[in-house]
Amino acid sequence: MKNDLWVEKYRPTSIKEVIGNEEAKTLFTEWIENKRSTKKAVLLYGPPGVGKTTLVNAAALEYNFRLIEMNASDARSEKAVNRIALPATSFAGLDKFSSEIKGNMLFLDEVDGIAGNEDRGGVNAIIKIIENTHAPVIMAANDPDLEKLRPLKKICLLIKFQQTRIPLIIMALKKICEQEQIMYEFEALEKIAINSQGDVRSAINDLQGLSEEGKTLTVQDTLALGLRNRNIDMYDALRGYFTAKSVVEAASFLNSSDVEFDDLLMAISDNMPRRYTDTVELAKAYDYLSQADVFRGRVGTENWHLIKYFFNNLSQVATVNPESYKHFEFITAPPIKVHTLFWTKAKRTTLNSICAKIGNQCHVSKYEAKMIYVPYLRLMLQQKKKTSTQLIEWLKLTPEEVTVLTSLKMF
Ligand SMILES: Nc1ncnc2c1ncn2[C@@H]1O[C@H](COP(=O)(O)OP(=O)(O)O)[C@@H](O)[C@H]1O
Ligand SMILES: [Mg+2]
Repeated sequence: MKNDLWVEKYRPTSIKEVIGNEEAKTLFTEWIENKRSTKKAVLLYGPPGVGKTTLVNAAALEYNFRLIEMNASDARSEKAVNRIALPATSFAGLDKFSSEIKGNMLFLDEVDGIAGNEDRGGVNAIIKIIENTHAPVIMAANDPDLEKLRPLKKICLLIKFQQTRIPLIIMALKKICEQEQIMYEFEALEKIAINSQGDVRSAINDLQGLSEEGKTLTVQDTLALGLRNRNIDMYDALRGYFTAKSVVEAASFLNSSDVEFDDLLMAISDNMPRRYTDTVELAKAYDYLSQADVFRGRVGTENWHLIKYFFNNLSQVATVNPESYKHFEFITAPPIKVHTLFWTKAKRTTLNSICAKIGNQCHVSKYEAKMIYVPYLRLMLQQKKKTSTQLIEWLKLTPEEVTVLTSLKMF
């Protein structure tokens, strides 16, 4: 099931397959090979999705270390430390049963998570482990702000990772396309890579989301991508969108905003009569808008690849006739009534897809799922018991669906 995700399917298993960050890779392998005596622990840090976790796993495999992974928040719990870290780190190399294995290596991934809670105890627990360990300790962190990890910095070899270079990402995407037999326009891969801002994971995820079997991946398909981190608010998004001269430009404004799709759709529809005073143009614009709405509905929770049609149609709305643009004042706060109606519909769609999933797994009709299962499921999720995570996984519920479920009052 996991391998449905390309990021997992194509996760490198050897060091040389990990692209980019050559210097960091060299420092890391040198440390494993002959610098472990100078520093017992190493901290790999840098932006997400560049291969830190992957590199550690690949290196353990290549250098024959057994990787003992410990969740960073486990480090806080004395029990977990005693159970996992201490045994793993006190008898380095003493694996009598395997001559191949050089010993254990302790891996604490995403240690910034723990430090983020201003949890001094957590950091101290890790330090204690490092001080007492005989086995090498590897840590990884996403947060470039290592201030929180300052006490750790002193006792670790620090290895900095950077964003992966765009040409390397393009090459990686190309390779995946070839393996998946996806035809592509080169510019489409380029767009995905640039947009990822050096995050290989998100580039691969975007590639998978945009590709369709038997179809050529085009630049047009990549319109749905927004530049990460470039958030603008609703007002600026609308202003840029309505003054856009081309579909691509309009799309780029839609994408650069952090506004919910549904809110965007509604805000655009509210402002259309102000934008298009000519009725023929207005009718055309409504046509595109309704298409966008249809796709928005179909995207639901599973057909994410359809989102590009939503964006495409929505971008057409803005450019029915760029010539006729005249400055107008926006309505940015839609009437509450419309708002409620709109959300009810969105919620209904989500509920429908939740019921379909329940039906699938429990072999009951959607109706039965809704009447009998949903009320219990809602209670179970609301109580946040341990089993809820399992339930969510088993039913393959998206975070959005979980939110809708737990916030349901009645139906
Ligand atoms: N440097 C890289 N080379 C090849 N694939 C990568 C690289 N970085 C990330 N990936 C892809 O992204 C996924 C997540 O990478 P990961 O190592 O977990 O990133 P990080 O730990 O830096 O957040 C991997 O499974 C892999 O598919
Ligand atoms: Mg990681």
